[in-house]
Amino acid sequence: MDNFSIRTKIYFGDDVLDHLGELDCKKALIVTDPFIVTSGLLDMIVHPLENAKIDFEIFSDVVPDPPITKIVLGVKELLTYKPEVLIAVGGGSAIDSSKAIREFAVTTENYPHIPLIAIPTTSGTGSEVTSFAVITDPEKHIKYPLISPSLLPDEAILDAELVRSVPPSVTADTGMDVFTHALEAFVSVNENEFSSALAEKAIQIVGSYLLRAYYDGNDMEARKKMHSASCLAGLAFNSAGLGLNHGMAHALGATFHIPHGRANAMLLPHIIQYNSNINEHSKSQRSYPQVVERYSTIARNLGLNSYNEIMTVRSLANWVQFMLKELDMPLSISQIGKITKEEYFAAIPHMADEALTDNCTKNNPRKVTRANVVELYKQLWY
Ligand SMILES: NC(=O)c1ccc[n+]([C@@H]2O[C@H](COP(=O)([O-])OP(=O)(O)OC[C@H]3O[C@@H](n4cnc5c(N)ncnc54)[C@H](O)[C@@H]3O)[C@@H](O)[C@H]2O)c1
Ligand SMILES: [Fe+2]
Repeated sequence: MDNFSIRTKIYFGDDVLDHLGELDCKKALIVTDPFIVTSGLLDMIVHPLENAKIDFEIFSDVVPDPPITKIVLGVKELLTYKPEVLIAVGGGSAIDSSKAIREFAVTTENYPHIPLIAIPTTSGTGSEVTSFAVITDPEKHIKYPLISPSLLPDEAILDAELVRSVPPSVTADTGMDVFTHALEAFVSVNENEFSSALAEKAIQIVGSYLLRAYYDGNDMEARKKMHSASCLAGLAFNSAGLGLNHGMAHALGATFHIPHGRANAMLLPHIIQYNSNINEHSKSQRSYPQVVERYSTIARNLGLNSYNEIMTVRSLANWVQFMLKELDMPLSISQIGKITKEEYFAAIPHMADEALTDNCTKNNPRKVTRANVVELYKQLWY
């Protein structure tokens, strides 16, 4: 038996932040990162609260790839202020921090499970609708994806105005994260008709609008579309799970501080080729493994087509590389420039161990051994 549910109520459309004035509470704790405060973006959240005479405090200690130490600080703030609602404002790092703060306050301090309202300011993680939170242990170079339905935000508010200020490089990274979520969900061993419909729609939007949002951050049509795509992809992978790409990207990101979406994007052409066993199936065949069919469906949705299924999958891997070039992203670790070959290769054994035990990896459509993962990390150096 299987089931599919969307537990987070999603608010979208014009003047959507006015919903904050309708909250049934007296005290809210806002969890965000310092940029959101200093840039003035937070004013858009604070004004409706002030108008509705809702008291609030701001915890702005969130950093990218949130470490456990910052979560502990957030729990302390929550226990001192005793809010009735948590409002997360920011990218995946702020939303994941809020999820972990609420979870730890409930499980370790017996604090009531208060509503969490997630307001994304990047179009990337889909964290506003997922039961995942990714927490980092910087000393051990590990990213832990926590997974529990109790992490799900109660409400998500999508306002693309909050994304207008996202710089091109972050638009690129987060946009490719959306693509990776949707593609991994689509080929996951746990995919279903509902998750796949959401994933296909997200991919179609990324194919049409990501480059537009990258070239012109004020293209609000593209921004709105990408904001929806991020949420759609989040809903897709919340049901279907992710795969090896995310498992390997978590270890890579935790070790070398590569932005999450960029780590995913660099790995993606290699993972597509590995999962479809591309060299084994390189000749025309009467039938292909299911994962090849699934990738070629996506390729065709993007307008890519070739003379057989496997060549169509090759076109998909090439398209991802084309996107990386257009988005001025590195294709290989050496192109990042700051990481030496010695330190990269020295880290591979540890990264491979972490990727194999990462919670995302188990949903990958092709079985993977430690030797496979080591080889894939090696391929990323050229
Ligand atoms: N929970 C999930 O389901 C899930 C899924 C994928 C990734 N993640 C995690 O999310 C984190 C990445 O999140 P992210 O990619 O959204 O990045 P992020 O939250 O780390 O933010 C990246 C940078 O963008 C800045 N920024 C955010 N909004 C901005 C705006 N409107 N204008 C200008 N700058 C802005 C931030 O200040 C920060 O410097 C990683 O820790 C990753 O592992 C979580
Ligand atoms: Fe991701």
